[in-house]
Amino acid sequence: MSTLPVILLLSGSLRVGSTNEAVLRTARAVAPSVPVEAVLYDGLANLPHFNPDDDLDPLPEAVAGLRAAIEGAAGVLVCAPEYAGTLPGAFKNLLDWTVGGTEICDKPVAWVNAAAPGRGQGAEATLQTVLGYTGADIVEPACVRIPVRRETVGTDGVVDDPEARRQLAEVLRLLAAPGGRPPDPRSSNAGGADFSPTGA
Ligand SMILES: Cc1cc2nc3c(=O)[nH]c(=O)nc-3n(C[C@H](O)[C@H](O)[C@H](O)COP(=O)(O)O)c2cc1C
Repeated sequence: MSTLPVILLLSGSLRVGSTNEAVLRTARAVAPSVPVEAVLYDGLANLPHFNPDDDLDPLPEAVAGLRAAIEGAAGVLVCAPEYAGTLPGAFKNLLDWTVGGTEICDKPVAWVNAAAPGRGQGAEATLQTVLGYTGADIVEPACVRIPVRRETVGTDGVVDDPEARRQLAEVLRLLAAPGGRPPDPRSSNAGGADFSPTGA
């Protein structure tokens, strides 16, 4: 049995041929070099619509599976597209299901914005808000922009770009060892409202 830290990979896209999922498959491909074990969550389409009335024991099976996957992970990496200026509804639904559990509290979490330069800030802002609300430990240095064009995704479904692969390995390293990250620049800024994790 592997003793490596597990990083759970959450894609925000249900699309076949998703670039966001390709980024996460690439993270999974480089994971052994970190080394971590990267696990791609594949239950997004099976989650029921969030309803607080259903957020009690016994939880819907798909929700229990999601929460168990988060609980068992040392960290979580999100890669989600922007739809209409924010997150896709299906992925916001997933995040809503994490609010009622404690699994994501203090869990190191980061996201990669794979959109073209200058795009996707609405999705990033929503992730900052919602994950902040859940109490996740947002690992700011690991929240990066790695623009990925569909043409750079090979027939094997991974991104064939050495720089992207290097950045993803670094993201995984930071998620697995958040104690080793640089000091949080917000620590002297109690409000923190103007903070942008990707430096925009
Ligand atoms: C319904 C819809 C809404 C979108 N809205 C935005 C948007 O607001 N901003 C943006 O930059 N891209 C927007 N896009 C483009 C997607 O973010 C882009 O195609 C992305 O690559 C999709 O991710 P995927 O390849 O992982 O499925 C939208 C796409 C769709 C289908």
